[in-house]
Amino acid sequence: MCGIFGCILKDQNAAPVIHTALKRLEYRGYDSVGEATVHDGKLYIKKDQGKIDEVHLTRNLDDLPGNLGIGHTRWATHGAPLEVNAHPHSDCSGQIAVAHNGIVENFAELKAELENRGHVFRSKTDTEVIVHLIEDVLKNNPALSLTEAVLESARKLDGSYSIAVISAKEPDKIVCARKESPLVIGIGENAIYCASDIPAFLPLTNKAVIVDDGELVAISLKGWEIRKISDGAPVTREIKVIDWAPEMAVKQGYPHFMLKEIHEQPTCLRNTLRLQEHYLDLMSTFLDRAREVFLIACGTSYHACLGASYMFSKLAFLATYPVIASEFIEQHGKSVSVDSAILAVSQSGETADTLASVNAARQRAATILGLTNVIGSTLTRVSRVYIGQQSGPEIGVAATKTFTSQLSVLAELALRLAKKRGKVSQDEMDYLADKLKRLPDIVETIIRTQEAKIRELAKKYKDAKTFFFLGRGISTATAYEGRLKLMEIAYVPAIAFPAGESKHGPISLVEQGFPVIFICPKDETHKTLIGNIMEMKARGASIITIVEEDDEEVKRLSDDYVEIPKGVPDVLSPIPFVIPLQLFAYYMAVERGHNPDMPRNLAKSVTVK
Ligand code: M6R
Repeated sequence: MCGIFGCILKDQNAAPVIHTALKRLEYRGYDSVGEATVHDGKLYIKKDQGKIDEVHLTRNLDDLPGNLGIGHTRWATHGAPLEVNAHPHSDCSGQIAVAHNGIVENFAELKAELENRGHVFRSKTDTEVIVHLIEDVLKNNPALSLTEAVLESARKLDGSYSIAVISAKEPDKIVCARKESPLVIGIGENAIYCASDIPAFLPLTNKAVIVDDGELVAISLKGWEIRKISDGAPVTREIKVIDWAPEMAVKQGYPHFMLKEIHEQPTCLRNTLRLQEHYLDLMSTFLDRAREVFLIACGTSYHACLGASYMFSKLAFLATYPVIASEFIEQHGKSVSVDSAILAVSQSGETADTLASVNAARQRAATILGLTNVIGSTLTRVSRVYIGQQSGPEIGVAATKTFTSQLSVLAELALRLAKKRGKVSQDEMDYLADKLKRLPDIVETIIRTQEAKIRELAKKYKDAKTFFFLGRGISTATAYEGRLKLMEIAYVPAIAFPAGESKHGPISLVEQGFPVIFICPKDETHKTLIGNIMEMKARGASIITIVEEDDEEVKRLSDDYVEIPKGVPDVLSPIPFVIPLQLFAYYMAVERGHNPDMPRNLAKSVTVK
């Protein structure tokens, strides 16, 4: 959670640059915003609760003096979203400031010690201990540099952090450090940046230095110096040239990032299909060797794992366990061994629950495999093999294009594994590979032909109090994902479950007009699913279906339907069938007056457990 940014510019004021970079980071949290700069030996801070635009309107975030500064956009953990808890936080002397993303787990003990030594705390945040710690280290040893003081302080912190620190006494540098929270450095012409992620500085430079876990980096206009926090040893790291075009990170004429990202799916799927074969081969070898395979993820990525478990079973005859990451250690922690393979799926590669499961499994010598959209993320560094899904940056908090790309990679992986295990004939392999290749066009057709109709459906159902999302087989994963999208951005409570479960309880909720969305590919579950539609219809439910275009039987039973081109194999069906559900959630949010890009209480990257 939270976004941090810092910059040092040769001939330019830092504040407006920080302000615009924070806008690009706002998806990471928007409870409060703040900036700190250094000028003429003085520290200046401006911060307040609220979204960046609101705060800028009343406080003008652009008029702080100085060419060096840091900024922060917050997703509150410790301390309410109030001005006093907004970052950057400063020390007692008002000379040092810190912006922080993460959680300092031992902040209560540290705070008590520091208060005993006379430090006065203003906020309820865990972050404030960091800046007082640095101040304390420097008070005890005034000969130390800011870099040395941050090094020494960082060693005392438990938990997760990515920090940017500035001091009025060293007005030419920003000292950053990271542990379990993301941090990257951007190298510009006459400028240097630090940020939580690459899109924050991408319009300014495409040259990045990735900071690893447990490292500190001091940046100045002369360059950067990376050191290990544990022993202070210097580290060398190459500059990476990022080939994301800056325009990939802006809305390109769409009213919201989410809609833009839904529309980008055909392109993303085409990119995903250009994956390097070598990595798929390597990963499928590890999956094949394992005694058991756990598919671990949260939220949307978990739904991709659920879909993948059907793919692995149907194509490669391999049973896998999809597990919600926050439950993994309790549920399976003890049974993991050197013979287990963990395939962790995370768009950001930074989700704390997923990384905690991965770490627990690593300690038991399991093989870690990763699928992520963020190269250089923690997941890529802890995985024996990882695959980058190549979806490009996803700014909307609701995952859309990254979900379909994840499914596409997982389908390719299942096919590769099936081949290795000799479970599918060459003809079947060729047939499925060909169908996979056609999916981008199918997704394009769905968006082109069905979007207007879905918009009308959202108008019709905008006041519904709740929805059921039902499917059978692999469509259960699609149903779960459709329901999550609707809940998280349109704030409509909804329930999803395998349609066969209705009669075991949930059907008692159904009464006249109760909207039920069925995901109905013409696969082996089709006949039984029609039975489930009849059960709901008999009780007065409004039936909305996602159907294949030639499925006249289901269309006749439906109050409303959305059509999908026919002939998509069942194992690939979640990719096209989820598109109408993403669009439905989007238009429901818009109809209900909500901003789909910034759902309340959520953040794009969930780096706390
Ligand atoms: O970055 P990750 O894929 O690990 O994120 C997992 C979830 O936090 C994420 O999918 C979340 O559920 C989104 N809000 C879904 O739209």
